[in-house]
Amino acid sequence: MIPRPVSVSLSGDVLLSDGSFDQRLDPSLPPSGYILDISPSGIDLAGGSSSGIFYGTQTLRQLMPAAALRSGAAGPWEVPCGRIVDSPRYEWRGVMLDVARHYMPVADVLRFIDLAAFHKLNVLHLHLTDDQGWRVEVPGWPRLTTVGSWRTSTMLGSRRHALFDGRPHGGYYTADDLREIVAFAAARHVTVVPEVDMPGHMQAAIAAYPSLGNGFEGPVRTSWGISSHVLNMTPATLDFCRAVLDHLCDIFPSPLIGIGGDECPVEEWGGDTTVQPRFTAQMALFLATRGRRVFGWDEILAGGAPPDAVIAAWRGPFPTAAAVAAGHQVVACPDISTYLDYRQSDDPLEPTPVGTLLTLADVYAFTPGVDSDLVLGGQANIWTEHMESARRVDYMAYPRLCAFAEAVWGPATFEDFTTRLDPHLTRLDALGVNYRPLTGPRPWDARPDAPGNPRTLPDRLTELAEMTADLRR
Ligand code: ACM
Repeated sequence: MIPRPVSVSLSGDVLLSDGSFDQRLDPSLPPSGYILDISPSGIDLAGGSSSGIFYGTQTLRQLMPAAALRSGAAGPWEVPCGRIVDSPRYEWRGVMLDVARHYMPVADVLRFIDLAAFHKLNVLHLHLTDDQGWRVEVPGWPRLTTVGSWRTSTMLGSRRHALFDGRPHGGYYTADDLREIVAFAAARHVTVVPEVDMPGHMQAAIAAYPSLGNGFEGPVRTSWGISSHVLNMTPATLDFCRAVLDHLCDIFPSPLIGIGGDECPVEEWGGDTTVQPRFTAQMALFLATRGRRVFGWDEILAGGAPPDAVIAAWRGPFPTAAAVAAGHQVVACPDISTYLDYRQSDDPLEPTPVGTLLTLADVYAFTPGVDSDLVLGGQANIWTEHMESARRVDYMAYPRLCAFAEAVWGPATFEDFTTRLDPHLTRLDALGVNYRPLTGPRPWDARPDAPGNPRTLPDRLTELAEMTADLRR
C-alpha cells in the first residue's frame, strides 16, 4: 500500500470519492473475486460478478476509519491508495445459527447476517427446529407454533447440573419473517439454507402432534441433550415431512434444503438402523421434485446418503474424508475447530464452558483437511443452548468468527491476523458488537448461574472415534 490517502464518503450504500468511483464487472476475474484500485484520481472496483463487487466494497469499508461504520457517519473519510487483487479460497463460507434452542428476534438475525457478510461469509445455515423448540410457521399445522414453539422452562448450563430457570421461552418465524431474512441476506450475497432437523430432534413437533411419534405424549423438551422421541414412519408422517419441506422450498430459494439427520436414536424403531437411510432417501426424492438437494449432517452417510446430498461434516475431522470417499460434496465443520459454543479459554469467568478449548488461534487454524473439489468449504456452527440473547451470541462468535472468515476466504498467517485484529476490533466497536475482549471475559460475562462441563481434547477425540466407527467400517 502506498500511504497516500484518498477521500471517500459513504452515502447510504453508495461510496463517493473526491475523484471518481467506478464499479464494473470483469468476467475474467473469479466470480467472487475483485480488484480494488485506489488512487488520488479515484477508485476503480472490478468484480468477477456482483458478489465480487460486494466483497470489494466490504474491503473498502474496512479500509475506511472505523468511525465510518457508525450509523449516521457523514465522512468524507480517507483511505490509503493501493491495489488489492483478491478472491476467496472456498465457495462455501458458512455460519450456522441455532434459533431453536433460543429464539432470536428477526432484527437480531438481520444484524447477525449483516455482520457475517461484512466478514465475507456467504451462507447462513438456519437451524430452525429441535427438541427444545419449533420456530417456523407451517400452513395447516398450527400446533407446531401454538404448542411446539414454546417450552415451560429452560435448562441453565450443562445437563449434568440439572438446573432450570423456571421461565417459559419461545417464539417463531412467520413466512413473511423468513422472506425478509432471505431478502436481507440475498442483498448481502448470503444464501440462507434452512434446516428442519428430522427424523430425530423432533420432540417439539411430536409434543404438538403426538400422532407423529411412537407413543410419546409430553411437552416440548426443557433439558438439553438428545430426545429419544423420534418420528414414526407412517405415510401420514412422511406426508407431514414433505409438507414442511414444501413450505421451506416456497420460502427459501436455496438449492439445498437441510433435513438434519444428526443424532437420531433408534430405540423407538426397535433398533433398526435401516429406517433412517430409507427416510432420508424419501425426503431426497421429494426435494428433487422441487429441484432441490438434501443438505444433512454426516450421520446420513451411514447406510448410504442420497447420491447428490451435500454433507455437513461435524463429528471431528474424519467425516469430511468419509464424505469425499463416498463421492459427496461436503462442508467441513468439525466441532473441535468450528463449534463456537465451545469455550474460548480456561479462564474461570468464561461463560458456561462446554466442549473442548477452542481459542482464536485454534479457529484460525481450521482447514477442511481434505484436498478435493468435493470440499465446498467450511462452516462455523453456533449452537445456542447457552446463548439466550444476541449479546451472548456476539460474545461467543466474535472475534472467533473473524478468524474463521479469514480461514475460509484465504490463508494468511495467524501472526499477521493478530496484527490486524486490534484495528478490526475498533470496527466491531463501531458496529456495536459485544465481542469477547482479547484480554478475557469481563466479570459480567461470567455465568455462575449456568455452570458448564468442559471437556479435554483427548477425551473428545476418543468419543468422536467411537461416534464415527460406523463410517470407518
Ligand atoms: C450436531 O452438532 N449435532 C450436528
